[in-house]
Amino acid sequence: RIAAVKGRRVWDSRGNPTVEVDVVLEGGALGRAIAPAGASRGTREAIDLRDGGDRLRGKDVARAVASVNGPIAAALVGREVADQAGADAAMLALDPSPLKASLGGNATVAASLAVLHAAAAGAGRPLWQHVAEHYGTTPSLPLPEIQIFGGGAHAGRRVDIQDFMIMVPGARDFDEVMEITSAVYFAAGDIMARKGRLAGVADEGGWWPQFDSNEEALETLVAAIELAGETPGDRVVISLDIAASEFGQGGRYRLALEDREMGSQALIDMLGGWLDSYPIASIEDPVGEDDPEAMAAFTRRFGDRVQIIGDDYLVTNAQLVDEAAAAGACNAVLVKVNQAGTVSESIDTFRAARGRGWGAIVSARSGETEDVSISHLATGLGGGQLKVGSFTRSDRMAKWNECLRIAERLGQGAFVGGAPLAGTWWG
Ligand code: PGA
Ligand code: ZN
Repeated sequence: RIAAVKGRRVWDSRGNPTVEVDVVLEGGALGRAIAPAGASRGTREAIDLRDGGDRLRGKDVARAVASVNGPIAAALVGREVADQAGADAAMLALDPSPLKASLGGNATVAASLAVLHAAAAGAGRPLWQHVAEHYGTTPSLPLPEIQIFGGGAHAGRRVDIQDFMIMVPGARDFDEVMEITSAVYFAAGDIMARKGRLAGVADEGGWWPQFDSNEEALETLVAAIELAGETPGDRVVISLDIAASEFGQGGRYRLALEDREMGSQALIDMLGGWLDSYPIASIEDPVGEDDPEAMAAFTRRFGDRVQIIGDDYLVTNAQLVDEAAAAGACNAVLVKVNQAGTVSESIDTFRAARGRGWGAIVSARSGETEDVSISHLATGLGGGQLKVGSFTRSDRMAKWNECLRIAERLGQGAFVGGAPLAGTWWG
């Protein structure tokens, strides 16, 4: 049983306040989790409750911490820790608003994850194993999606597109994904240095996008894959997060870097041109979250050759996954626990997606910490992918390193990328 719940303020990778929660069991076992924070948020995701005002740029979390130490603690203490669904439902009952605006999604997500950690600790099992046993899933290491160049809201909008990433579905195991990614990451840095364009890194640790066009970023990524000794499109493929809601509204899109404005159809044509020219296997939020017809049109045209992920578009909501599937929009979902606000809702979304044969990508936020819950969730749920950011900075590397530790217990053979599973998008 849960004996105590304690919230406190800690600080994230961007130096902003965030919420940490400890859940202590009667036997003394401790579960701890920290809420991450996004910069390019969907309008329908759980509210990241901040104090506002002038102090700490309005970003302090005293109200969210008070939610934890007040109503959330009162609702959770005495509960059976293994009843994750019950704990999450108890929090929902305290705040029936759809976006958890009164408790704060940052308060509920940290509390919900801390309950999950406490249940695993109480049972003496690693979190990934607890997740697999609790939800009846087959654990396997996720296929990573790793950022090489940052962009969009994570790089002062230096380029319009947010994430230029690679995936290594052809790797033998997780270790080899790390080695190949390291080679590509440093090759990209060498190319930037040679061009006199090396200018540090963006929020998630990818190289700062000192480019004259979005295409130049793609060209450079291809060149980096080649310089690393790989054939682009063979073992290594490209994955993009367009994050189109950040530069488009009402079906009008404004590419600031190229000083161009375009409608949905022109954007779809432009992205289609990229799919023809570059080895892109996955594309996230290709159109805005308020442009459902364009998302369906994009999926009709390209859904059989590329993974199309809804992030801002689906905000880790199982009902939105169902609706999108019915409308023929997207074929994969990004799962960010803090978009939903609880573990249970996030896992419902993961299952709704996988149950339809969609891809499911467990994801970090651009504001992160040393918390490695998502490495365990992605592994425990199995058959998934993991998006964390780049191949530098400890807020990112902590997640990849945790996967390496899990691999020792689970076995590298459990990596889903090494032997393409029938029916997966890359198989
Ligand atoms: P965010 O972006 O965490 O800044 O919202 C990440 C993403 O769009 O995938
Ligand atoms: Zn995204």
